[in-house]
Amino acid sequence: MLKGLVIAISLLVFPITYAAASHVDDPVEDRQAVMKHMGTEMKIITPIFAGKAEWDEAQLLSSIAILQENVTPELLQLYQSHIDPEDGSRAKKTIETSWDDFETRMNKLSLQLGRLMGEIPQGNATALATFKLVAQSCSGCHKFFRNRINDR
Ligand code: HEC
Repeated sequence: MLKGLVIAISLLVFPITYAAASHVDDPVEDRQAVMKHMGTEMKIITPIFAGKAEWDEAQLLSSIAILQENVTPELLQLYQSHIDPEDGSRAKKTIETSWDDFETRMNKLSLQLGRLMGEIPQGNATALATFKLVAQSCSGCHKFFRNRINDR
């Protein structure tokens, strides 16, 4: 069921992806800035889900909304060029040859964030499993599609 939905959404996303291309001038810097922003929000909410910080519904809703706003067709578009370490990028060349997988992972993250948003009012017992899936979506994609070289 989820798989079918992911495919349906990725089909929807593709044409929009191309339409949004024109304003992009430095895709590497832009996508790194978006990812960095997402990293910042994850650092805020991870201790909350881990029970190391107090449950803060307003903070969670705001951070997850920011994550959702960042996982867009425009972000995907930023990965359609300059996949080269020469450009100061850690994006792996295999993004070009495994585009469907890359796109599916991004769309899956978007769906998971939507689900997580809906679960926050029900508390951590309900939301934790979905949060873990979100975190795995980040790290899974990095494992497959981000180079370890130039680690900063
Ligand atoms: C579909 C694949 C994919 C997903 C999903 C993904 N990332 Fe990334 N991320 C990348 C790639 C590829 C790079 C390397 C970009 C570059 O250097 O051009 C990256 C880079 C980063 C960076 C380093 C940015 C910098 O300053 O260079 C951070 C931080 C990051 N991601 C956080 C996240 C977080 C947090 C999530 C989940 C909420 C996430 N990413 C989800 C593919 C992904």
